[in-house]
Amino acid sequence: MWCFNFIFVITLIVCTTASPLFNETSYAGGCTITSYSQVSTVVKSCTNIIINGLAVPAGKTLQLDLKSGTTLTFQGTTSFGYGTKWEGPLIFITGNRINVIGAPGSKLDGQGPHYWDGKGGANPGKPKFFRIKATGGSTFSNIHLLNCPIQCVSIQNSNQLTLSGWNIDVSAGDRNKLGHNTDGFDTSNSDTVTVRNSVIKNQDDCVAVNSGKNLHFSNLQCFGGHGLSLSIGMSKTDPSKNQVSNITFSDCTVTNSRNGIHVKTHSDAARGSVNDITYSNIKLSGITYYGINVQQDYANGGSTGHASNNIPIKGLKMNRITGTMTGSKSSAIYVLCGSGACYNFNWSGVSISGASKGSYCNYKPPGVQC
Ligand SMILES: *[C@@H]1O[C@H](CO)[C@@H](O)[C@H](O)[C@H]1NC(C)=O
Ligand SMILES: *[C@@H]1O[C@H](CO)[C@@H](O)[C@H](O)[C@H]1NC(C)=O
Ligand SMILES: *[C@@H]1O[C@H](CO)[C@@H](O)[C@H](O)[C@H]1NC(C)=O
Repeated sequence: MWCFNFIFVITLIVCTTASPLFNETSYAGGCTITSYSQVSTVVKSCTNIIINGLAVPAGKTLQLDLKSGTTLTFQGTTSFGYGTKWEGPLIFITGNRINVIGAPGSKLDGQGPHYWDGKGGANPGKPKFFRIKATGGSTFSNIHLLNCPIQCVSIQNSNQLTLSGWNIDVSAGDRNKLGHNTDGFDTSNSDTVTVRNSVIKNQDDCVAVNSGKNLHFSNLQCFGGHGLSLSIGMSKTDPSKNQVSNITFSDCTVTNSRNGIHVKTHSDAARGSVNDITYSNIKLSGITYYGINVQQDYANGGSTGHASNNIPIKGLKMNRITGTMTGSKSSAIYVLCGSGACYNFNWSGVSISGASKGSYCNYKPPGVQC
């Protein structure tokens, strides 16, 4: 009996220690992924993961549903195969209290040139690149994204999330105007998100906020795109999807871009609200259309000239917006509001020079020449 128990205990010890040992030896060096077939097992087993030189097959999402508290490091080049047309995303990372890091010299290459045709979303089949759903103080730092086929980063359903040190480079898409709709950071349905210290070179909004609250963007350098934007009214039926509040953009530069600052509400959408938006210390240069554009007449992807009041804008603050316009179509300020649908604006230190055309405001924010 004693003998039986003894053997049983030994077996138990061996078995209970064997499983983690097997984990350690199988995933030595901190659970490194070098081939796509390893992804699901490593992600389920490990909380300190390295993705090194991974080639993701065409038409597959690199889906990383990380365990709580995981640290994930990208090393080398992560590439995404090109095959058929599809919507992506190429990569989708979810988790609570996760830290995702790009090692020095690492990059994720979306192979944009294979997809670019100058039409962006108007010709479907280009995969979105990088989707994030993260909570609990998660961080994503020093990620280098190259050549997004279409929209680069989508932050959705996130809470307590910080992105810093990103380098989004779609500048190759400037060639022959082939890159299009390559938004930098799109944000929806999120609360308490910070994006800071990042460089974005693209062909659409540098940042586009669609919904959410307590979002803060700072120290961003935007080149080549459409500026720092709010685009509110993505839902034609659900007012809860058309709300933003407490959004700040501070200490950013917008260079060689279509707009500097762009706040638009969709006149063909359900009701909604835009409350407490602050732009502070934004430096513009080489802006070709509008330094500051506030419009409530956006419908079917364009400006109709007929502003509506379904999504009022309350408390739009501008402080120290400076810089220069360029080209024959440029205008420093354009404000087109629906009846009674813009109020409590407070603009100060707005000084934008070099425009070819005059400014226009059907609602004149206090503190501005218009
Ligand atoms: C790794 O260990 C965990 C528990 O520590 C276990 O659930 C899992 O099955 C193990 N994975 C492998 C591949 O052995
Ligand atoms: C606005 O958002 C910031 C950043 O998330 C937060 O620190 C601040 O408390 C918020 N302000 C209000 C009035 O909610
Ligand atoms: C407008 O903004 C300025 C500068 O940020 C501030 O000093 C002033 O109190 C604000 N006025 C109102 C009415 O909020």
